[in-house]
Amino acid sequence: MLRQSPQKINGNFKGKDIISFDQFSTRDIKNIFSLVPKMRKIALLAKPSKILAGKIIVLLFYEPSSRTFGSFSTAIKQLGGQTVEIHNPQEFSSVAKGETFEDTIRVFEAYSDAIVIRHPQKGTASNAAAVAKFVPIINAGDGTGEHPTQALLDLYTIYEKHEKLDNLVGVLAGDMLNGRTVHSLIRGLSLFKKNTLYLLSPKQLKLSKSDFEDFTKRAIKLVEIEKETDIPKNAHFWYWTRVQKERFKKLKEYEKVKNSFIVTQKLLKKYGNPNLILMHPLPRIYEIEKEVDSDPRAIYLKTEIRNGLYVRMALLKLTLGII
Ligand code: NCD
Repeated sequence: MLRQSPQKINGNFKGKDIISFDQFSTRDIKNIFSLVPKMRKIALLAKPSKILAGKIIVLLFYEPSSRTFGSFSTAIKQLGGQTVEIHNPQEFSSVAKGETFEDTIRVFEAYSDAIVIRHPQKGTASNAAAVAKFVPIINAGDGTGEHPTQALLDLYTIYEKHEKLDNLVGVLAGDMLNGRTVHSLIRGLSLFKKNTLYLLSPKQLKLSKSDFEDFTKRAIKLVEIEKETDIPKNAHFWYWTRVQKERFKKLKEYEKVKNSFIVTQKLLKKYGNPNLILMHPLPRIYEIEKEVDSDPRAIYLKTEIRNGLYVRMALLKLTLGII
């Protein structure tokens, strides 16, 4: 199937697919951010708003998910919409009988106002968008490709702390090759001026050649590092990630690199500074020690998760909202 590049948002989210962070401009990001305080208020009220009243959104998740699934489902309900939730369609839908991906998308678009999709194969959200004629597709993670709504909440979390998205120094650590959250976050940070990212990973998990070439053409400085001793001490944020076990062909290869870089209290003390925030898209496996959780800079299990709900509410309001 032919993949098309998704339409730019260009100030108007209404009815558009959300596939890649390449669709966003700084203005689009600010539009989302400006709605967050209102969304937070709605989420705290006992009654849902009517912003998505009468709307039904299908959550079609071919891969496991806690936060993305949970926050989309909650966001839709907080806005007065309803969901059809399909976890593992390979097992629980007609996909198990051999129905094609295209037919599955056509079926669910007939029932709904939007489809949020997660799939193990890169490019699938874009393929779904090419099939769906009537409803927008939202990419909730396409294999090693992208995870644009995660980048929105990560950018918001950085913005909330540092009150800017330019002139930042960040450390991204873990699986640069396979980590879709990293791929969208680099795209997002490259829209703003003078950001520098240190990419800490074992050799085997560096960005792919094509991603590296693509990203280095953008307005961002990328510095690939392989040792903890190269971590800059002036970082505004550390963004640690899980080594993506499910993307390895051989378990042995995963075992070799899974514990390459672990955040310990000692590491934070040595290379951190009082002003940084420690982020992680989660799930955290071994790569941040539990003792670090109580450090006030560790926000992965706190604001970063909550921001995911508010930012997804804001995105849904702009894309599908009736008021
Ligand atoms: C991430 C994902 O699925 O890409 N999780 C998430 O959505 N917050 C990160 C991961 O699985 O490592």
